[in-house]
Amino acid sequence: MTDIPDLAPWRSLLAKALHQNRSLVYSRYLQLATVTADRKPSNRTVVFRGFLNPGNRLQIITDTRSEKIAQIAVNPHVEACWYFPKTRVQFRLAGTIAIVTSTTTDETLQAARQTVWGKLSDNARSGFAWPQPGADRADCADSSAFDVETPAPTMPLDKFALLLLEPDRVDQLQLRGNPQQRQIFTRSATGWEQREVNP
Ligand SMILES: Cc1cc2nc3c(=O)[nH]c(=O)nc-3n(C[C@H](O)[C@H](O)[C@H](O)COP(=O)(O)O)c2cc1C
Repeated sequence: MTDIPDLAPWRSLLAKALHQNRSLVYSRYLQLATVTADRKPSNRTVVFRGFLNPGNRLQIITDTRSEKIAQIAVNPHVEACWYFPKTRVQFRLAGTIAIVTSTTTDETLQAARQTVWGKLSDNARSGFAWPQPGADRADCADSSAFDVETPAPTMPLDKFALLLLEPDRVDQLQLRGNPQQRQIFTRSATGWEQREVNP
């Protein structure tokens, strides 16, 4: 029998926030912080690409050449911070990230990578054929390096990585109300624990 992971109690809260803020395109943007090799924080905005079902893993995409990939490979511990302006709710999701690339042998994960790739816009897919992110722009001063053929939606480029963020601690802060409300969900060996804390 396959083990189907339980839905974490914070998932319905996050799903509700996504639904209530769906009119704001930027409500799918979150900040993802990693740790550098010299143990400094590194933070950037990414797009939420849905949950990998079943389970509680958040899907994010990135370029294998981006700095976050090397950082996560050394230290998979991350924290994401996500604010929903319409309902004034913040989620901080701490956990670990697994990287799914063209060389990942797990068929389920590879299928998930292909599915997410297939849903990208032409522009988003083309970005993975661009020159090295973060490299000196002078290297491709003539912008023809960015005139790439649009990659097919059926064949993810090697540079395309799917990141799976598995939270083990979720801190939800609701600004609405006086006092504000804050609850923390922590994953233990027996499941999720939930407690209300002072804001
Ligand atoms: C609104 C917005 C959405 C972004 N979405 C992503 C994304 O989904 N994945 C990604 O790798 N970078 C995304 N970026 C770019 C990153 O913020 C960052 O500049 C890039 O990933 C390089 O970061 P790194 O070198 O630290 O890995 C986005 C930027 C903005 C402003």
